[in-house]
Amino acid sequence: MTEVLMQGRQISKSYQDGKNTTQVLQDISFDLHIGEMLAIVGSSGSGKSTLMHILGLLDSPDCGELHCRGDNLLQLSQAKAAAFRNEHLGFVYQFHHLLNEFSATENVAMPLLIGGCQPQRAKQKANEMLERVGLGHRLKHRPAELSGGERQRVAIARAVVNEPALVLADEPTGNLDQTTGDSVFGLLKELNQSLQTSFVIVTHDLQLASQLDRTVTLNNGLLVANESMTP
Ligand SMILES: Nc1ncnc2c1ncn2[C@@H]1O[C@H](COP(=O)(O)OP(=O)(O)OP(=O)(O)O)[C@@H](O)[C@H]1O
Ligand SMILES: [Mg+2]
Repeated sequence: MTEVLMQGRQISKSYQDGKNTTQVLQDISFDLHIGEMLAIVGSSGSGKSTLMHILGLLDSPDCGELHCRGDNLLQLSQAKAAAFRNEHLGFVYQFHHLLNEFSATENVAMPLLIGGCQPQRAKQKANEMLERVGLGHRLKHRPAELSGGERQRVAIARAVVNEPALVLADEPTGNLDQTTGDSVFGLLKELNQSLQTSFVIVTHDLQLASQLDRTVTLNNGLLVANESMTP
């Protein structure tokens, strides 16, 4: 078994609405290994996005611990958490969240520039990554001038351009037709193999989930390991 990349322990999260408390996550614990691709499935409202926001340090749990390579992530200052996110994490959303007024190259170069990379070098690396996702012929296009699958590939290029240890993808293929979704998913697998990037992927597509290393289901606030789902 490979080394553990991220470790979550007894993570709980609830939302308070007047007198009502909604317990979304209850004592969630997990180990995510280096290079592992983990699928999270579960019905709508089961807390998948809530958990992803916590793993991405975009939201805090009520209690619990999250460790990554010796760092106690939930104890980091805001500035250190932002630096950790930029250096070690990549994000892919259901809707691409690209910056509309910027070209594909500029969108992909953004995390590099934020990380202090020299602009010419950032542009070069962004273009190399866009070539890898099959968009070498669309470098100057803005999101509005790209198809849905192309936009999602730009978003993936942006998520992995920093070579992060972990990519968090919340329904990365949810908004795409089956064929485009399959090709976007194939790209994630290829990047996983070549860069040893770990992935946590939220999906409603069980067939897609079954192609990952492991699947867990969120149900009533609990994270349940699925039995072997090899097709
Ligand atoms: N800011 C908030 N305030 C109150 N309740 C919230 C808030 N954010 C999420 N919730 C509730 O927490 C539950 C989990 O939401 P979450 O977005 O994590 O679900 P999900 O599993 O991602 O669902 P979907 O598959 O529809 O995306 C939902 O019942 C939702 O209404
Ligand atoms: Mg969600």
